[in-house]
Amino acid sequence: MEFAQLCLILSSLTVSPERSQFRHYETIILSCAANSTGWMVRRNTSYHFSQKCQFGWGVPKESSCKIDTAYPSDSGAYWCENNHGGCSNVVNLTVTASPLILESPVHPVTEGDSVTLRCSYKDERLISSTSNFSTNFYKDGQLIGEEKEGRMVITIISMSAEGFYSCEDPSRGKTSEKSWVGVRARVIPPEDPPTDPPHFLWIRIAAGALIFILYAVILLLCLCSIRRWARGRAAARK
Ligand SMILES: *[C@@H]1O[C@H](CO)[C@@H](O)[C@H](O)[C@H]1NC(C)=O
Ligand SMILES: *[C@@H]1O[C@H](CO)[C@@H](O)[C@H](O)[C@H]1NC(C)=O
Ligand SMILES: *[C@@H]1O[C@H](CO)[C@@H](O)[C@H](O)[C@H]1NC(C)=O
Ligand SMILES: *[C@@H]1O[C@H](CO)[C@@H](O)[C@H](O)[C@H]1NC(C)=O
Repeated sequence: MEFAQLCLILSSLTVSPERSQFRHYETIILSCAANSTGWMVRRNTSYHFSQKCQFGWGVPKESSCKIDTAYPSDSGAYWCENNHGGCSNVVNLTVTASPLILESPVHPVTEGDSVTLRCSYKDERLISSTSNFSTNFYKDGQLIGEEKEGRMVITIISMSAEGFYSCEDPSRGKTSEKSWVGVRARVIPPEDPPTDPPHFLWIRIAAGALIFILYAVILLLCLCSIRRWARGRAAARK
């Protein structure tokens, strides 16, 4: 699902709060984590292409961008870029006027990890959001679970769990936007050859030395007996 980038991935874009969906008027901070300076945040929205972080929609800072008040028109793809052909991963953000949002990971999760999806409701009358309501969760439009308290935990995520997720609060008759949850394959590192603990090493050296001494002694004994035998023969011949 990643688009073909003609740039070197040298940075990663992090989003705070770390999720894909936001409500109207929320504050979003986008930061470029990189081992160098000169990074800027860019975005594609329905109205703009490769728009850099600028006053009007964001407050540019050194390698970051702050959206003080998010609007649905801020929905789009965001990434970091520098002037030397470097870029970052791309994240999709959705800003909605709906009081119901799905809180899902903004970055791909690693196969086998646990993932929590949260359905959260907040309207003008509420000071903070709530998830304490019976919720239906959907993947690619199919109902995958009903949870009493707005939270669904996928304990061991598989590659096939990748897809578009959304949630529904049936009592309020509201459904969230859908968001993509990416899963990346777990790379199993090649096993290190077993290394002997140091005392095993000493035992091996000692055993080696012992065997060497044993061989040397046997060799010496052999040489001696051959000599004795040769001398015996020489004496017998005289
Ligand atoms: C972002 O959204 C677009 C359109 O829905 C989708 O094609 C793309 O795969 C998404 N990318 C990521 C990284 O989620
Ligand atoms: C990048 O990281 C390397 C090693 O971690 C370090 O030696 C180098 O100074 C860093 N460069 C910058 C520009 O921070
Ligand atoms: C942004 O939009 C342009 C033009 O539609 C497209 O070529 C590019 O791949 C998009 N970038 C991202 C990160 O979606
Ligand atoms: C959720 O709501 C139920 C009933 O409305 C209540 O009994 C329960 O304590 C609430 N749980 C939390 C975590 O607020």
